[in-house]
Amino acid sequence: MASDEGYSGKEYWDEYHDIGLAKPLDRSSKQEKWLRPFIPILHEYKARTVHDLGCGSGYDALALAQLGFVVSGTDISSIAIEHAIAEAATAGLEIDYRQHDIARPLPYPNAKFDAVICNLTLHMFPVTTANDIASEVKRCLVPGGLFLLHVNAVEDLPYRRELQPPVVKLGDEMYCFGRGQTMRFFSEASCRQLMKGWQLLSLEAVRMMRADGAVQKCAWRVVARSPASS
Ligand SMILES: C[S@@+](CC[C@H](N)C(=O)[O-])C[C@H]1O[C@@H](n2cnc3c(N)ncnc32)[C@H](O)[C@@H]1O
Repeated sequence: MASDEGYSGKEYWDEYHDIGLAKPLDRSSKQEKWLRPFIPILHEYKARTVHDLGCGSGYDALALAQLGFVVSGTDISSIAIEHAIAEAATAGLEIDYRQHDIARPLPYPNAKFDAVICNLTLHMFPVTTANDIASEVKRCLVPGGLFLLHVNAVEDLPYRRELQPPVVKLGDEMYCFGRGQTMRFFSEASCRQLMKGWQLLSLEAVRMMRADGAVQKCAWRVVARSPASS
């Protein structure tokens, strides 16, 4: 169910995680697609502290901690966060997980992180909210810190329509699917608008395929740095 602010709330995401919709069939193939491309960039810019925004059950956060990064994560779903905490404990890794609605001010001081990753989460929000989240990310990054994200591309819409009917158009680029999942589909121009005020290092259209050759998702891969002094 979309909340008053126009995005799916905790109730929706708790159910999503509870029924296992967030669980990838093949975790390593998921990470190969959505996390692995960011690792060389984190190394290149000597990032040490990395925050995973909308971390879900912590699959990416755990992989980053295993690589030696100092990791934290936030997600609106307490079910996802409980799962993430349990997995980190089993792996003997310390990850600071917090249940938090990222559309609210982030519970961190200024310049806390060298990098923020946000995989397939920022497209859950309408334009103004997404812009506010990007501003909060900028506040929490060190000057010149990295913001690494994947968001839905407009080309993904036909595939999503098939996967999660019924579909209701909520506004420009914004839709509500199936049981109440809000999603936005970014054009190149809307990606550039989101990253206004950032140093955009790269903006790449990516198309992920399933093992059977069908299209899984069309997305934008965004690599940006916060201004050197803000
Ligand atoms: C498609 S999943 C991606 C999860 C994770 N980033 C990954 O790649 O596996 C989207 C995630 O965003 C989280 N989410 C959605 N709305 C949120 C909000 N308002 N605040 C924090 N997390 C949110 C959901 O609970 C879910 O875990």
